[in-house]
Amino acid sequence: MHEVMLAAAYLLASLLFILSLRGLSSQTTARNGNFYGAMGMGMAVLATALAMGDLSVPHVLAALIGGALVGSFLAIRVAMTAMPELVALLHSFVGAAAVLVGLASFQRDGPEVTSHAVLLSEIWVDVFIGAITASGSVVAWAKLKGLVGGRPLLLPGRHALNVVLVISSFALLFMSMGAEASQAWIYVLVMAVIAAVLGVHLVVAIGGADMPVVVSLLNSYSGWTASAAGFMLGNDLLIVTGALVGSSGAILSYIMCKAMNRSIWNVVFGGFGAKPPATTKKAAQEGEPLPVHEANVAGTAEWLLSAKKVIVAPGYGMAVARAQHAVREVCDILRDRGCEVTFAIHPVAGRLPGHMNVLLAEAAVPYDIVMEMDEINHEFCDVDVVLVVGANDIVNPSAETDEDSPIYGMPVLKVWDSKQVVICKRSRASGYAGVDNPLFYNDNSAMLFGDARASMDGLLQELRAA
Ligand code: TAP
Repeated sequence: MHEVMLAAAYLLASLLFILSLRGLSSQTTARNGNFYGAMGMGMAVLATALAMGDLSVPHVLAALIGGALVGSFLAIRVAMTAMPELVALLHSFVGAAAVLVGLASFQRDGPEVTSHAVLLSEIWVDVFIGAITASGSVVAWAKLKGLVGGRPLLLPGRHALNVVLVISSFALLFMSMGAEASQAWIYVLVMAVIAAVLGVHLVVAIGGADMPVVVSLLNSYSGWTASAAGFMLGNDLLIVTGALVGSSGAILSYIMCKAMNRSIWNVVFGGFGAKPPATTKKAAQEGEPLPVHEANVAGTAEWLLSAKKVIVAPGYGMAVARAQHAVREVCDILRDRGCEVTFAIHPVAGRLPGHMNVLLAEAAVPYDIVMEMDEINHEFCDVDVVLVVGANDIVNPSAETDEDSPIYGMPVLKVWDSKQVVICKRSRASGYAGVDNPLFYNDNSAMLFGDARASMDGLLQELRAA
């Protein structure tokens, strides 16, 4: 392929990736975003394959079709609640690919590599970050899947150990410079093993509670490693794509940390979740469960039928119960009766960014009634009924009032400002953060106990009969 055509194809693919990120920033354009991304990747692979005359087309096509089939199979089968696991596993592939490409480049360039400091450093960065990403992502996947306990493993002097591992990797880089190629090859392999150990050690020290942020961070690392591979291979598209993935992953990690009121360094260096979280002072002092108001389906239907304004606050439990379709039908009936219904979406509701938006889009909830927390939080005081469906931490008032609470400072949906709150969940059990929720005991709160899907189906029957 002519160089100018290759540059044009790479430029177009880069533009498609940028359009893809732009599209993915809103649920109305997310499908287009995915489409642009797939087009960009298809174009990038084909242009690169055509530019490398020594690659056989059947091999490239077999890899493309094989990868597409495996990817589609995994994506179709995965449950929304298991998505972070799949993403973690896919990041480990990116890291492993980077390590293999780095090692192959080292072998390809032979003895020249060791006298070429820039090339050697590029290989070093690629293999180092790639190995951390690969091993760290496998541990994150195992933790999310429950194969490894969620508790952080905090070895004594773990920070010192990390520093030693990083310094020894740097030392191996300097030792490789000007060394015999066969000797340098051993140094690179040892460095890859050290980086893999560092990846495992960094992630085992992080509690299961922070895994989604870690997955997003590893996504960022996989981008930087791809960028390093781009420098190493002299491939501009890989540099641009890696930088896009690296920076967007870093921004996403920052947004998630902010929404959970966590410092990014606190997540990276781990330790959170080592101690069982404290319950709120109130519940702990009482020693026995505080009384709650219990609602039933018929009573909730009555509240909803007489309400002029209703807000639904969905959370992880709605995803577990797969109740989004029933919730949408409940809202359709209310809207047909003239009630104003909106959805309030907390930035970290569920278990991955945009979790609720995807579920609501899947259930065909109109986009214009789905509001972000900052858009809707001041409106709760004008609302007659708030239906909290399988959410807990994101509606916990102790995030504002209890300085001792582990979630103190996390922005939350102020559902308690409304006239009546109905909380649909199976029990009084705590949510993800493991803390008690004083919202359950408020005078204007009522618990509708049961599986969210069963409660919504019950509500539907009552509303249809009304
Ligand atoms: P949670 O606080 O985890 O609460 C979910 C609640 O759903 C649970 O208390 C559970 O109570 C209930 N539930 C589970 N299965 C149910 C079912 N079948 N039917 C009805 N209810 C069910 O969820 P949330 O309010 O969405 O908050 C999200 C949490 O995840 C936050 O702490 C957030 O920081 C964290 N987090 C989120 C992300 C992202 S990016 N979304 C990333 C990392 C961490 P019962 O067992 O009593 O039913």
